[in-house]
Amino acid sequence: MKRFTLPRDLYHGENALEALKTFTGKRAVICVGGGSMKRFGFLDKAIAYLNEAGMEVKVIDGIEPDPSVDTVMKGAAVMQQFQPDWIVAIGGGSPIDAAKAMWIKYEYPNVTFEDMCKVFGLPKLRTKAKFCAVSSTSGTATEVTAFSIITDYQKGIKFPIADFEITPDVAIVDPALAQTMPKKLVAHTGMDAMTHAIEAYVSTANCDYTDPLAIFAINMIQRDLVKSYNGDVEARNSMHNAQCLAGMAFSNALLGIVHSMAHKTGAVFADFGAHIIHGAANAMYLPKVIAFNAKDPVAKKRYGVIADYMKLGGNNDEEKVALLISELRKMNDDLNIPHCIKHYGADSFPCEQGFVPENVFLERLPEIAKNAIGDACTGSNPRIPTQHEMEELLKCCYYDTEVDF
Ligand SMILES: NC(=O)c1ccc[n+]([C@@H]2O[C@H](COP(=O)([O-])OP(=O)(O)OC[C@H]3O[C@@H](n4cnc5c(N)ncnc54)[C@H](O)[C@@H]3O)[C@@H](O)[C@H]2O)c1
Ligand SMILES: [Zn+2]
Repeated sequence: MKRFTLPRDLYHGENALEALKTFTGKRAVICVGGGSMKRFGFLDKAIAYLNEAGMEVKVIDGIEPDPSVDTVMKGAAVMQQFQPDWIVAIGGGSPIDAAKAMWIKYEYPNVTFEDMCKVFGLPKLRTKAKFCAVSSTSGTATEVTAFSIITDYQKGIKFPIADFEITPDVAIVDPALAQTMPKKLVAHTGMDAMTHAIEAYVSTANCDYTDPLAIFAINMIQRDLVKSYNGDVEARNSMHNAQCLAGMAFSNALLGIVHSMAHKTGAVFADFGAHIIHGAANAMYLPKVIAFNAKDPVAKKRYGVIADYMKLGGNNDEEKVALLISELRKMNDDLNIPHCIKHYGADSFPCEQGFVPENVFLERLPEIAKNAIGDACTGSNPRIPTQHEMEELLKCCYYDTEVDF
């Protein structure tokens, strides 16, 4: 038996944020990030709508990008005091993911972070509160997914929490929120969404219910991401939906090793002054992983189907895979994303010498590879790499060399 789970309600299109007015309850917390939602007036609107619904509102703000275990525990303590019956998270993947983890801890105060990370092992939620997610970036689709990514900064790695219990009750996909994204965020989150759709399509857990969502999302992203990056308002609106469709696909079909590698490289060089931003990491690793996975005959065929839907041409699957890889690399060029870690600058833009020194990369490589293999996303990848293969693959991602194994 397989399960396909999505939020009970999804409000989308112009003024979708107004759906908050229809919620019933006494108290709501709103979880937000560093200030963009306040700056652009969306936080005040959300507070007003919830007040209009008769709810007392408390704001948990300042949730940092790539939220930490500490932030989760602090937020849960605030919830414990305030006893909300709605948790409304507004922003990008970071505040929404943090709020999901806070929700678990609020419902079960004795749960540890380690307990939360047991894949599909969460107790029943919704004994105290329901959860609504309002996305402001067009990438993670966490508003519809069963995932939350929390960073353990002591270990320098990201841990996915995965369980349909944390699939939100309500998702709000209001395109107005996406219009204020700076270009760089559009690029990174958009390639994150492309990676979600492609990984979901070739995942070993793909099915008839996830395939159409993934394929349609891939087409929309191919059509609209670069336009959205270059300021086209309609394309930006469309990308907000496309990333959500990709999310519906991967929440149910799971992901693959592009994500395993991104999770385990994101924060591991933080002592050199930067993170490899999630979407940028995916954008760099995706072409390499496609070349690696295409050695599996089923995956190769599926990449061929993707290339066909993208109308890339090619006479056989070999050629189609190569064309898919070039198309994705071209998108990276158009979006000013580097092709490899070696050329990934501290500001995320391509540069001659990136912020991760070669010797440090090589020194940490065995540990990173081991952690990537152990990541929750590895299990559904079409090919399970050995330690040696993962190290080689990561080297290709560092130097931008050909994957021929
Ligand atoms: N839960 C999932 O299924 C899932 C999937 C993929 C990634 N993730 C995780 O999500 C996090 C990344 O999330 P993200 O890429 O959405 O970015 P983010 O939430 O980390 O936000 C990045 C920055 O953009 C700003 N911002 C957000 N929306 C904005 C807007 N509309 N206008 C202007 N500024 C805005 C934020 O204030 C922040 O400074 C990572 O931790 C990643 O691992 C989760
Ligand atoms: Zn992602």
